[in-house]
Amino acid sequence: MLVTGGAGYIGSHAVLALHDAGHRPTVIDNLSAGRRSSVPADVPLIVSDVGDARLMARVLAETRFDTIMHFAGSVVVPEPVADPLSYYGNNTAASRTLIEAAVNARVPRFIFSSTAAVYGIPECIPVTEDTRPARSTPTAGRS
Ligand SMILES: NC(=O)c1ccc[n+]([C@@H]2O[C@H](COP(=O)([O-])OP(=O)(O)OC[C@H]3O[C@@H](n4cnc5c(N)ncnc54)[C@H](O)[C@@H]3O)[C@@H](O)[C@H]2O)c1
Repeated sequence: MLVTGGAGYIGSHAVLALHDAGHRPTVIDNLSAGRRSSVPADVPLIVSDVGDARLMARVLAETRFDTIMHFAGSVVVPEPVADPLSYYGNNTAASRTLIEAAVNARVPRFIFSSTAAVYGIPECIPVTEDTRPARSTPTAGRS
């Protein structure tokens, strides 16, 4: 199992849970926001960017992962408004690169960590798979 962003907040807790459940996760993280110390010492850590297509092809060819859990991304809410292209690059383009590498390597399962922000202020809590999305984050401007 490959955990992207596994040195970050959510990803590192997923890694701990997987580790405790007897799985043997591998983490890939560029440490732009994560910390090496958040990854248990016996969990392999690849310090690289998931948007690097050649690197991802090599990583997925070297190890036959059955699952990718994708937590790598930029998450600070005000920043994408000020710098939308950088966020588009890291969250959309890099994820696309990762997904293409996963498809090419025939990784059977891909789990994407989305955000509850897609539901805005939900009509009922907890939200379910059937809850209608309603964006709450601001757009960067109009052109
Ligand atoms: N924080 C929350 O409450 C929350 C809730 C639900 C879902 N999520 C989603 O979970 C994901 C992770 O959120 P988080 O709060 O753990 O953020 P975080 O910033 O703590 O973790 C993101 C990790 O990804 C790494 N990273 C960023 N870009 C990368 C790249 N291109 N290649 C490799 N590594 C990269 C960072 O170094 C960091 O370790 C996001 O997609 C977020 O939307 C977060």
